[in-house]
Amino acid sequence: MADIRIAGRAHDITPFHVMDILAKAKKLEQQGRDIIHMEVGEPDFATPQAIIDAGINALRSGKTHYTPALGLPELRHAIAHWYATHYGVAVSADRIVVTPGASGALLLVMGALAERDKKVLLADPGYPCNRNFARFVEAEAVSVSVNSESHYQLTANDIEHYWDDDTVLALVASPSNPTGTILSQQQMTALSDAVLQRKGHLVVDEIYHGLTNDGIDAQTILAVNQDAFVINSFSKYFGMTGWRLGWLVVPEGYTDIMDCLAQNLFLAAPTVSQYAALAAFQTDTLDELEHRRHVFEQRRNQLLPALRQLDFDIPVTPEGAFYLYANCARLLTDRYPDSMALCDYLLTEAGVAITPGLDFGHNNPEHHCRFAYTTDSDHIIEAIERIAHALNK
Ligand SMILES: Cc1ncc(COP(=O)(O)O)c(C=O)c1O
Repeated sequence: MADIRIAGRAHDITPFHVMDILAKAKKLEQQGRDIIHMEVGEPDFATPQAIIDAGINALRSGKTHYTPALGLPELRHAIAHWYATHYGVAVSADRIVVTPGASGALLLVMGALAERDKKVLLADPGYPCNRNFARFVEAEAVSVSVNSESHYQLTANDIEHYWDDDTVLALVASPSNPTGTILSQQQMTALSDAVLQRKGHLVVDEIYHGLTNDGIDAQTILAVNQDAFVINSFSKYFGMTGWRLGWLVVPEGYTDIMDCLAQNLFLAAPTVSQYAALAAFQTDTLDELEHRRHVFEQRRNQLLPALRQLDFDIPVTPEGAFYLYANCARLLTDRYPDSMALCDYLLTEAGVAITPGLDFGHNNPEHHCRFAYTTDSDHIIEAIERIAHALNK
């Protein structure tokens, strides 16, 4: 074997534990087993047809070259218009940077704002890549354990408690992955004030906006704080995970540095995807997406009580995204003493794949697992029956 030498930074980046579950699921499927996938963090719906057609037309008309690093001007304007019409918030197109997914936006933000010996505050449990992005730019990720009392979100008190002279930014996601909880306008204001008082940066990942339940229409942080950085994406609500397209909204004065970083790190987001996304804000597409949102809500309403009935503890009703983060402590036995073992057991015995808490941080992960309702209602019913049977319920 070749002598493989890699940088410490790369060495420290952690893989997803769910990949072990996926690999095992694949193996079982090859052996003929029927596996219900509830570990996958992407909509099961295809991209809306109008978006696909716009992408095909773009390719047919030769739109195969680079766009400007900040993105197609028409798309930046369409996104700015979306803030005006959907949120009632004025955002100039100059402040919008089109990126390869929210992942590209996270890389730009971390690259521009964090560095060696600086700290980044993150909610734990939270999206696993965030701490790895921090590591990638040599900053320190400070995981703040959050719980049901704060709806699994960072609070102003957390900022007071954990912020020190080396802290440069706090990053939150609303709705959150894995808990699906949302920051209320009051929480957003308190958080904003606490961060601004310390002259820090607040970064809000709004990738699950649009996918909200119970009549809640999540407001953007920009409604209360125009100095926040907003991460968003066409991946989830718009059903475009494979197109690799997202965006970043930056405060006045930060566009040039993002332009420079984007030029150097990836030149531009995929051209075909940008042309396709111009169709994302059309009325017929939005009608279809609203229908899908409703379907996700129905699935949540089906899965949540069923899991609670099985003795999974889900203290806060998730208001958005397509995840349920369940405490499984009451279900653990000698045979499956922690959530990783439980996930493995449920995969092997019930043929249901879910994600162990370990992927989302260090805050009691051994007692948690995440269910993604990215499969249809019949499969959800079937999954519940199989889990109940495997757990002797
Ligand atoms: C909270 C959160 N942020 C960002 C991402 C990255 O999304 P993408 O790069 O596909 O836009 C994900 C993907 O699951 C996510 O859950």
